[in-house]
Amino acid sequence: MKNLLYYGDNLEVLRKHVKDESVDLCYIDPPFNSKRNYNQIYNNIGKEDVAQAQAFVDTWTWNSIANEGLDDIISNKNGVFTKQSINLILGLEKVLGKGSLLSYLVSMTQRIAEIYRVLKPTGSFYLHCDPTASHYLKLVCDGVFLAKGGEFQNEIVWSYQRWTGATKHFQSMHDVVFFYTKTKKDFTFNLLYEPYSKKSKHKAKRLSTAEKGKVITQIYTEDTSREKAMRDVWEISYLNSQSKERLGYPTQKPESLLERIIKASSNEGNTVLDAYCGCGTTIAVAERLKRNWIGIDITYQSISLILKRLEDSFGGDFTKDLVDKDTKQIIRPAKLALDGVPEDFASAVALANKQDDRVRKEFEKWIILTYSNNRAIINAKKGGDGGIDGTIFIVDYDEKQEHIFEQAIFSVKSNKTLSPSVVRDLFGTVEREKAVMGFLLTLYPMPNLVKEAEKYGTYQNKLLGHSYPKITVISVQELLDGKRLHLPTSVEVLKKAERKTQDNITNDIFES
Ligand SMILES: C[S@@+](CC[C@H](N)C(=O)[O-])C[C@H]1O[C@@H](n2cnc3c(N)ncnc32)[C@H](O)[C@@H]1O
Repeated sequence: MKNLLYYGDNLEVLRKHVKDESVDLCYIDPPFNSKRNYNQIYNNIGKEDVAQAQAFVDTWTWNSIANEGLDDIISNKNGVFTKQSINLILGLEKVLGKGSLLSYLVSMTQRIAEIYRVLKPTGSFYLHCDPTASHYLKLVCDGVFLAKGGEFQNEIVWSYQRWTGATKHFQSMHDVVFFYTKTKKDFTFNLLYEPYSKKSKHKAKRLSTAEKGKVITQIYTEDTSREKAMRDVWEISYLNSQSKERLGYPTQKPESLLERIIKASSNEGNTVLDAYCGCGTTIAVAERLKRNWIGIDITYQSISLILKRLEDSFGGDFTKDLVDKDTKQIIRPAKLALDGVPEDFASAVALANKQDDRVRKEFEKWIILTYSNNRAIINAKKGGDGGIDGTIFIVDYDEKQEHIFEQAIFSVKSNKTLSPSVVRDLFGTVEREKAVMGFLLTLYPMPNLVKEAEKYGTYQNKLLGHSYPKITVISVQELLDGKRLHLPTSVEVLKKAERKTQDNITNDIFES
C-alpha cells in the first residue's frame, strides 16, 4: 500500500513502522501552546492553562514521558542521537530546568532524530513553528542535521494578516518554517517562481483551454526572463472563519503553503510524510499532486477528519476498494491502509483503558466518529459533560417541508455492567436538550439496556418517512461487525472539504 495513515504516537510509529531512508519529504507542524505568556513558558512558573475543547493537550509538563525521553537521548537509544544533540539537551536542562519547555524540546529531539533516519539521502525536512520556540527548535534541528552532514537551507517566513485588537507591541503575524536537507548538495529541489501579481508591471497573457466543458485558466508572465525565483518570505492568506478551505480544525494550515513545499521538495510518485498531520492538509495536497503519503496523528478526531476530507475532496472511501455496482469489478483499489485503529474487541478494550495525559476521550472519539461515519461532533470537554459525549445534526422536514436540522446525542460507557437507569438518564438528557434521538454506545454488550430502550418510543423523520427508536443501544462488537448510523446528517457543522477538480485547484506558483 502506497498511502498509510497511522493512529498513534508518532515516535512509536516512526520507530516501529517507517523504514530507514524511505521518505522523500517530511513536513511537521507540532503543537505548541504559544498563546501562553512567554515568561511563563521560559521560567515554567505559574499555573499551566489547560485548554478545554481541543483534541490534543498542547500544554507541556515535565512528567514520566519527558523523563523517559531525556533518558533515551542521554543513553543514545538505538544510536540515533548525535553527540551535539545529547550535549544540547544536557545544556538546556541546566538553563531551563525540568519544565514545560524542556519537555517539549526533548520530545522534538526524539522525533526529529527519527525523521532524519527515515529521510532518503535526497530528502528534505520542513519544521513549522512560530517565534515562541523557533530559536530553540533551530538548535535542535542543527544538532540532528548539521552534525550528520545535512544542511540548513532556509528560514521561511509565512506572513499573513488577521484581525486583532491593539497590543503594546507590534502585531505578531508570521510563522516560521525551517527547511533542512539530509545532504548538502544532492537533494530534490524544483525551482518555484513568485506568484503572478495583479499589480505587476509585467504584461500578462491569459491562456484558456477548454477541457471537458470546463475552462481552465492559466496566467503566464510574457517575459519569462523576468520571472522572479521564489524568496523566503511567503505572503499567504491566513485561514479565517470565512475561508472556503476551512474545516473547523483550529490549527489547520492553508493548502497553498503545503503546495509550495511539496512542489519544491518532491516529485510525482515520491513519498511525503507528515508525522503531526492534524486535519490532513499535507495529505490532501500530496494526494492532489500525485505523491504517495504517510500520515500520523495521535487523536482519533484527526484520523476521522482526514478520512472525511479525502472522501469529500476526491470521492469514495479511501480505505475500501471502489466497486462498480453492476459489474462488481474493482474500479479503484483501496488507496490507503489504516493502522492503529481498533479492529477487534481486544484492541477496543485496550483503547478504552488507555491512560495518556496528552489525549483524552480517545475511546469515546473512536466509537462515536466510527458509528456516525465521521459526521459527529465530539464534546472534548474535560470532566462533567452533562451526559453528552458527542452530538450530530439529522436532516428532517418541518411542517412546510423545509429542511431543518434536529439534534441527536451520543453517550459512551465502557463499564462492564450497567443498570437500566443509564438509559433513563440518556432519555432525560435528550428531552432536556430538545434532541430527537439518543445513542448509547457501550464497550460490552448490554441486552438489559437494549430492552429498557424499547420503552422510550420512536422519532419520526419526515424527510425519509421512517421512524427510528428514540434511544438506541449499540455495543462495540456491533460496530466492529459494521453497524453504522444510516440517517441523513448535516455536515455543515464541520465544513465539507471542497471537491478537488481540475478547475478549483489553486495554482499560484510556477514550477521551473
Ligand atoms: C498543529 S496540529 C497540525 C495541523 C496540520 N498541519 C493541519 O494543517 O491540519 C498538530 C497535530 O499533532 C498531533 N500530535 C501531537 N502530538 C503527537 C504525537 N506525539 N504523535 C502524533 N501526533 C501528534 C495533534 O493531535 C494535532 O492534530
